[in-house]
Amino acid sequence: MAAPSSSPQTLIESFARAGQGQVFAFWERLAPDARARLIAEAAEIDLAEIARLNATLLTSGSSAAADLTGLAPAPFEPRPENGGDPAAWAAARAAGEAALRAGRVAAFTVAGGQGTRLGYDGPKGTFSVTPVRGKSLFQVFAEKILAAGRRFGPVPRWFIMTSHANHEATEKFFATHQCFGLDPARVHFFRQGRMPAVGLDGKILLEAPAAMALSPDGHGGSLRALDRSGALDLMAEDGADTLSYFQVDNPLVRCLDAEFIGWHLLRGSEMSSKMVAKSGPEEKVGHFCTLNGQTVVIEYSEPAMQTKSAEREPSGALRYRAGSIALHMLDREFVRRMARDGTGLPFHRADKKIPCLDAAGKLVKPEKPNGVKFEQFVFDALPFAKNPVVIETPRADDFSPVKNADGSDSPATCRADQLRQFARWLHATGVTIPTDATGLPPFPIEISPLFATDEATFVESWRTLSPKPKIEPGLCLG
Ligand code: UTP
Repeated sequence: MAAPSSSPQTLIESFARAGQGQVFAFWERLAPDARARLIAEAAEIDLAEIARLNATLLTSGSSAAADLTGLAPAPFEPRPENGGDPAAWAAARAAGEAALRAGRVAAFTVAGGQGTRLGYDGPKGTFSVTPVRGKSLFQVFAEKILAAGRRFGPVPRWFIMTSHANHEATEKFFATHQCFGLDPARVHFFRQGRMPAVGLDGKILLEAPAAMALSPDGHGGSLRALDRSGALDLMAEDGADTLSYFQVDNPLVRCLDAEFIGWHLLRGSEMSSKMVAKSGPEEKVGHFCTLNGQTVVIEYSEPAMQTKSAEREPSGALRYRAGSIALHMLDREFVRRMARDGTGLPFHRADKKIPCLDAAGKLVKPEKPNGVKFEQFVFDALPFAKNPVVIETPRADDFSPVKNADGSDSPATCRADQLRQFARWLHATGVTIPTDATGLPPFPIEISPLFATDEATFVESWRTLSPKPKIEPGLCLG
């Protein structure tokens, strides 16, 4: 990155020397404020990094396959009901609860994505998801964090990574809703980094005469952003050493899961992950694997995975069944180390249709991919972590993302999964609620995280209710 004190002229010259002089092609006709904007963007760019990515990723082609010789499924800790050691899970829960009581854990949401598949106009976290009250994703998480604070003592800090595009709108949403009852001094927003898109010739693209085609640097950019924003220092001041990482699109997530925290801490792990058993070979999630003695996540799109993901054990179970649902525990100092190690997380290339200016300054909307975006993925940190641990989690209690407008992983499937969970919790108290064969009740009900965050806390809270509410359409608890 250019030194902040670089003069515009020095910056322009450094771009020219790097073969990126086209970024300033329209400089002569820019007004002073437009020039200042372009210079500010240019100062963000690490030209050496772009040159390195061009030399590696552009020349290798978009479909270059990784060398996966020796790949094997990663070991994971099965749940007690699937053969795991109940005593080990109980010890993990106790350790996690102790850590929450001691204020060692902060919540961390990555919310900088563009959410193009959902096609919703606004930060994805503001999207309404709950079946009766229509609460937003952000409100659901806020209530889960508040509930953890009420149960265990200090309310954990909450870090939310935004993008340049949605930062202001996200902050405004929280301000309008008084932070959903959380202390605003303990809810922190910071923007993730941006990367310029390049053409297939490696030249940085312009989307306007005074603006490069910049986009978020991927959820892996969260490690650098956590460091740069001062989030890690704030945690250190508080004595918090563990970050519970989750995505903005998944309202079922147990944001502060004591068992998960406990496994991570008891194993002395720097980065831990949750897996669910894949629903079938076709499910589009990454696979936890080992490669050269390290834990890695191999994406479903990796060519070598296409056949491997269908391999089965003699029992009939999928051999590569440990699917990644993007839930991680991160050690604070591990994040700092990764953020500061320039050779840490790799970048991936994504070939995209990128609207950009042609040489005459005319905006072109391409019909086919004309350029490349560079992104980092957070799971690429796993091979760098000491003692990584992968634990099993029941899908129904941790994972139902809103990714697409329709079909799988959509608002409709997520709503149904919430309803099934609420019905399961009611059943656990002995209450009768009609459901279909998939466990879905025929009418909407809603249970606030402030009433219960899991089956055990639901049973506890239900016991204290007097009189018991009638089970009917629109029932809301908490
Ligand atoms: P997705 O892979 O679902 O991407 O992100 P997306 O950009 O949100 O959605 P599409 O692909 O355009 O439809 C998974 C999680 O990672 C975050 C997202 O906000 C989401 O929580 N993310 C993704 C970031 O925070 N920054 C990024 O650069 C990319």
